[in-house]
Amino acid sequence: MSGHIRITPSILNADFSRLDQEIAKIASVSDFIHLDVMDNIFVPNFTFDFSTASKIIASSPVPIDAHLMVADVDQIAIDYAEAGAASVTIHAEATTNISATLKGIKSHGARAALAVKPGTAIEGYEEFVGEIDMFLIMTVEPGFGGQKFMESMMEKVRRTREMIGSRPIWLQVDGGISLETIEIAVEAGADTFVAGSAVFKAEDPAQMVIALRERALSSKLHP
Ligand code: DX5
Ligand code: ZN
Repeated sequence: MSGHIRITPSILNADFSRLDQEIAKIASVSDFIHLDVMDNIFVPNFTFDFSTASKIIASSPVPIDAHLMVADVDQIAIDYAEAGAASVTIHAEATTNISATLKGIKSHGARAALAVKPGTAIEGYEEFVGEIDMFLIMTVEPGFGGQKFMESMMEKVRRTREMIGSRPIWLQVDGGISLETIEIAVEAGADTFVAGSAVFKAEDPAQMVIALRERALSSKLHP
């Protein structure tokens, strides 16, 4: 897909009873499908267990970006990489040994990403910068789709961009991304965008993915 902007639609607000068809709607225009895995422990919501998620990963025509909102994620994260997820994101707050888990994910050929919740500072994780393929700065409290974008997180996005420097690390934002908010996130330094309700509540989800990418690219050209 185009340039250095990636759009990764979240299927959290899609119709779970017909996920194949929901994914098919956006497959040809999406860089990844963002799969929100919630265990009802790390967050107060449940989505998929490992067996269901593995089937989605195996049947998806688009690479899967697995966002694990799961407690004690160290081993599960490696299982997701082994199951074929193209990218696996662990939460700093849920991981005991971050370095070993990132290595384990990469040992199966997946990209390894580290996420922080809105209340978690990024500075504590600078030591892992050489081991990470993507940072995820949450722009809502994890747990539910359809929440309001937290513009106050843009300072953290800017600091993370500075921390990344010239390394080829992607910088993802997740939560409340829409045509109204994507430019603010691009300007702060994000390059990888999760969009859930903006895409699946749109009349034409594929067209919305295209519109989000265009909006991001145009604000990148003219910040
Ligand atoms: C929230 C999830 C998000 C969510 C985004 O915990 O991690 O990926 O699906 O949905 P929207 O775009 O509706 O905020
Ligand atoms: Zn997510």
